[in-house]
Amino acid sequence: MPKYKIAPSILSANFAKLGEEITNVLAAGADIIHFDVMDNHYVPNLTIGPLVCEAIRPLTTAMIDVHLMVKPVDRIIPDFAKAGANMITFHPEASEHIDRTLGLIKECGCKAGLVFNPGTPLHYLDHAMDKLDMILIMSVNPGFGGQKFIPEALAKLRAVRQKIDASGRDIWLEIDGGVKVDNIAEIARAGADTFVAGSAVFGAAKDTDAHRYDTVIAALRAELAKV
Ligand code: DX5
Ligand code: ZN
Repeated sequence: MPKYKIAPSILSANFAKLGEEITNVLAAGADIIHFDVMDNHYVPNLTIGPLVCEAIRPLTTAMIDVHLMVKPVDRIIPDFAKAGANMITFHPEASEHIDRTLGLIKECGCKAGLVFNPGTPLHYLDHAMDKLDMILIMSVNPGFGGQKFIPEALAKLRAVRQKIDASGRDIWLEIDGGVKVDNIAEIARAGADTFVAGSAVFGAAKDTDAHRYDTVIAALRAELAKV
């Protein structure tokens, strides 16, 4: 894995051609598939579940990063593990027992992470660092693609970067929401190493690109190379 990892969110892909979209975006140079799960309860939208994860699993060996925006959380975790998820992240407010949920994800053989909404305090990290493989900072309120990046997320990234460095552990720091070519470098400078981008990637399809997304992924990487 490169130092900076690009994780297109398939939320903004063309669902009528999902397999093709995934194959293209990875061939264009993406590192990870970000898989947004919404339940119309924890967040006001409804998306995709384990059956879709299972359907796309044979297309690639790339990591499938499942972002659970559901409440409750635990019931669905084993299903996603069986469906081939590699990483499973959840929102601490959505679990009654955060440590148990992290343990369950690990027992199922997946990497585990916590997700922080713009208004969620970082104290949930205080007793969880030893079980975390990823910390995901939301730079929009979850539920929809195509929203504007909330600049306060940069301060939060800096704070989490310090905590990760102080822990000495290899925990990825992911950012999700409103990531674009024109702000990805600034976000990397604040400490993120994994970048979810939905509308910025899938909205930039080019028929002239061999894999439709080559130009936009190259542009994101070129910005990251400046950091
Ligand atoms: C929002 C999702 C995001 C979303 C990002 O709830 O978690 O992954 O798809 O979309 P963009 O990149 O369009 O902000
Ligand atoms: Zn997401």
